[in-house]
Amino acid sequence: MGKQVNLGFLGCGNIGGGVWHLLDEMHDEILRRDGLDLRVKRALVKSIPEARTDVPAAILTERAEDVLDDPEIAIVCEFMGGEQPAARFMQAALEKGKTVVTANKMALALQWHALRAAAEKTGAGLYHEASVGGVIPVIRTLAISLEADRIHRVMGIVNGTTNYILTRMTQEGSGYAETLADAQRLGLAEPDPTADVEGYDAAYKLSILSSLAFHTHVPYAKIYREGISAVTAEDIACGRDMGYVLKLLAIGKRDGDEIEVRVHPTFLPETHPLAKVDGSLNAIHLHGDYCQDMMLQGRGAGDKPTASAICGDIVFAALHLDNPTVPSFPNTAEADPSLTFTDDWQSRYLVRMSAQDTPGVLAKVAAVLAEEKISIASVQQKGVRDGRAPVALITHETSERAMRRAVERLQGDHVRVESVIRVEGM
Ligand SMILES: NC(=O)c1ccc[n+]([C@@H]2O[C@H](COP(=O)([O-])OP(=O)(O)OC[C@H]3O[C@@H](n4cnc5c(N)ncnc54)[C@H](OP(=O)(O)O)[C@@H]3O)[C@@H](O)[C@H]2O)c1
Repeated sequence: MGKQVNLGFLGCGNIGGGVWHLLDEMHDEILRRDGLDLRVKRALVKSIPEARTDVPAAILTERAEDVLDDPEIAIVCEFMGGEQPAARFMQAALEKGKTVVTANKMALALQWHALRAAAEKTGAGLYHEASVGGVIPVIRTLAISLEADRIHRVMGIVNGTTNYILTRMTQEGSGYAETLADAQRLGLAEPDPTADVEGYDAAYKLSILSSLAFHTHVPYAKIYREGISAVTAEDIACGRDMGYVLKLLAIGKRDGDEIEVRVHPTFLPETHPLAKVDGSLNAIHLHGDYCQDMMLQGRGAGDKPTASAICGDIVFAALHLDNPTVPSFPNTAEADPSLTFTDDWQSRYLVRMSAQDTPGVLAKVAAVLAEEKISIASVQQKGVRDGRAPVALITHETSERAMRRAVERLQGDHVRVESVIRVEGM
C-alpha cells in the first residue's frame, strides 16, 4: 500500500504509449522504492477508434475535460505536441492546481510565460525534462545541480534528425536531398521535415536551455535560426579537409549583460567532444565559472529513452506535489530590458568560394577582408577547373556584421562566395 497518485494523459501516441508501458512495467518497483502507487486514470486521444495505442480502451477519452476536470487526477502528462491546444490544456490544468509533466518544447518555448504564471499562481509543479535532449538530464542539471554556478556557454546538438543527416552526409559524401529522402524512408525524418531541418525544433530547445542556464527568460523570438537545407556535400568535404566536422548547433552565450542565442550549421574542430556525437544522438556541452567544461550525451528521442525521462519527472512530481521545483528567475513575458540580445556576435568563419584564375584576384579578396578588419587564419586552394579555382579560407575571430559586409562586397564575377559557415569550439 503506497500513496496512490492518479495521472491523466493528454495524448497517447508514440510517447504516451512509451510512458504507459514503462509505468506498467515499473509499477511494483516504484511502489517499493518510492512508496508511490501511480495509476493512469484517463488518456485523451483525438479519435478512440483510430487510437494508435495499446493502452486499455476503457481509459481512453476524446474529451479533454475528462482529464482536466477530474479532481482525482493530480498529475496531467501532456504528450500531444504542438503549441495549441496543448498549451491551453496545460494552462487549464495548472490553474486547477494540477501538476503538469510535458515533453513539448514548442508549447514551452512559445508559452513559457503563461504556463509558468499559471503554475506560480496555484503552486503547481511544471516539469519538462524530456523537452530538451530526450533522456539526457540537462534540465535538472541546469536547474538544480548547477544552480550555484554561473554558466557562460551552452552548446548543443539537440536535434537527432539533423545530426543523423549530417553524420551520413559526412561519412558517405552524399548530398542533402538524397540523405533526407533516405532518412524519411527509414522513419528518422518526418514527411514534412521543416521543423527539424530548418532549425525550429532546435531553437525551441535553445530558448528553454538558455533561459535556465542564464537565469532569465530568453524568448524564442530572440533566437537567430538557420537550418541545414542549404548545406552541400562540398561544404562538408571542404571542412573535413581542413580538420572540421559540421553539426547543427544550438548556441547560447552570456557575457555580463549581453546574451547571444543562435542555431545554425557550425564547424567544430574534429577533436571537440561534440564533433564525435554522431547519428541521432544528442549532446549538450556546458561551460561555467566553477563547473568549467562538461558534456551530457544520450538518446534525444525515441519512445523508451523519452519515457525514461518523463517517468523520472512523474515520480519526482508525485513525491513533491506540495513543494515543486521552480526555476530561479523572474517569469517576465518579454526579455529583461536590462539585457542586450546581440546579433553581432564574434565567431570564426569558413568561407568557401570559387575565384577566377587571373592574377590579383586573391589579393583583392585579402584586401576586402582587411578593410573589414577580418584576418585570415588559413587558406586552401585546390587546382583550377574551367578557369576557376576553389578557395577555402578560415578567419580568425571576427564580427558577424563585418563578415556579412565582406561577403556582399566579394560577391561578383571574379569571386563567387559559395558558402559561409561559422566555426566554433576553438
Ligand atoms: N517522439 C519523440 O521521440 C519525442 C522525443 C521528445 C519529445 N517528444 C515530444 O512528445 C510529444 C508527443 O510526441 P509523439 O511522438 O508521442 O506524438 P504522436 O505520436 O503524434 O502522439 C500525439 C498524441 O496526441 C493526440 N492528440 C494530438 N492532438 C490532439 C488533439 N487536438 N486532441 C486530442 N488528442 C490529440 C494524438 O491522438 P491520435 O492518436 O488520436 O491522433 C496522439 O495520441 C511532442 O510534444 C513531442 O515534441 C517526442
